[in-house]
Amino acid sequence: MTTGVNLPSPYKLLSYDSIDSTNEEAKRLAADGAPEGIVVWAREQTAGRGRRGREWVSKAGNLYCSLLLRPNCHAFKAMQLSFIASLAMADTAASVLPKGTFVNCKWPNDVLVEGRKISGILLESKTVPLGGMDWLVIGVGLNIKHYPEDVEFPATSLDREGAKDVTPEILLENFTRRFLAGYVTWKNLGFQPTRKAWLRRAAWLGQEITVRLERETLKGEFKALDKDGALILLHEGNERRITAGDVFV
Ligand code: BTN
Repeated sequence: MTTGVNLPSPYKLLSYDSIDSTNEEAKRLAADGAPEGIVVWAREQTAGRGRRGREWVSKAGNLYCSLLLRPNCHAFKAMQLSFIASLAMADTAASVLPKGTFVNCKWPNDVLVEGRKISGILLESKTVPLGGMDWLVIGVGLNIKHYPEDVEFPATSLDREGAKDVTPEILLENFTRRFLAGYVTWKNLGFQPTRKAWLRRAAWLGQEITVRLERETLKGEFKALDKDGALILLHEGNERRITAGDVFV
């Protein structure tokens, strides 16, 4: 199928009109030994998934894609790639929205426009003994035409925020090119450049936030993003290092 999408090497694009979930397909391909650089893109998903087992409603009109990577590093470092993806998505959104629109990254890897969620990332991986990576799938959803109304955290879309003439094709190309640039920088220079750029877009840095963890909910100041990407929360006078959770204000 001609897609009109032109991705630089080493990407290889696999496109579908409809699929269960681009993450599931990327994982099937990874299990079959597919190489790094596969991009699975679908116009709609019938079983799109979000973080923590939530549903990701995936009607045609939005962007749904998954990147298959095989980073040669420990699993905790590979998680830094989700910051590269959310930053690439934030920059992609900002590039098509009216000048001056607030586009922020919400820890760990959501993108907010004017305080509403426009993009989410689902990271899935398989490690090998001693903690190295076999594969990593980064699934990205971007609301272009549709956004859910009945969600805990308010959502939005590029259309709602005033972007003109945007298509999944244009945004897929824009996002994957930006991600590749960040990935190459990360391989050469480590996490610091991404960390600094992410902090410039960080939502609620220095402010009071609520972090919902698996077994408890903590309130405190969002003090910093540490050198590995963990959120540092100043909670009742102590610094807590948080590696997974949902953040609210
Ligand atoms: C979240 O914020 O909860 C993460 C949402 C991730 C959605 C994307 S859409 C493409 C890929 N395929 C899926 O089933 N999920 C991710």
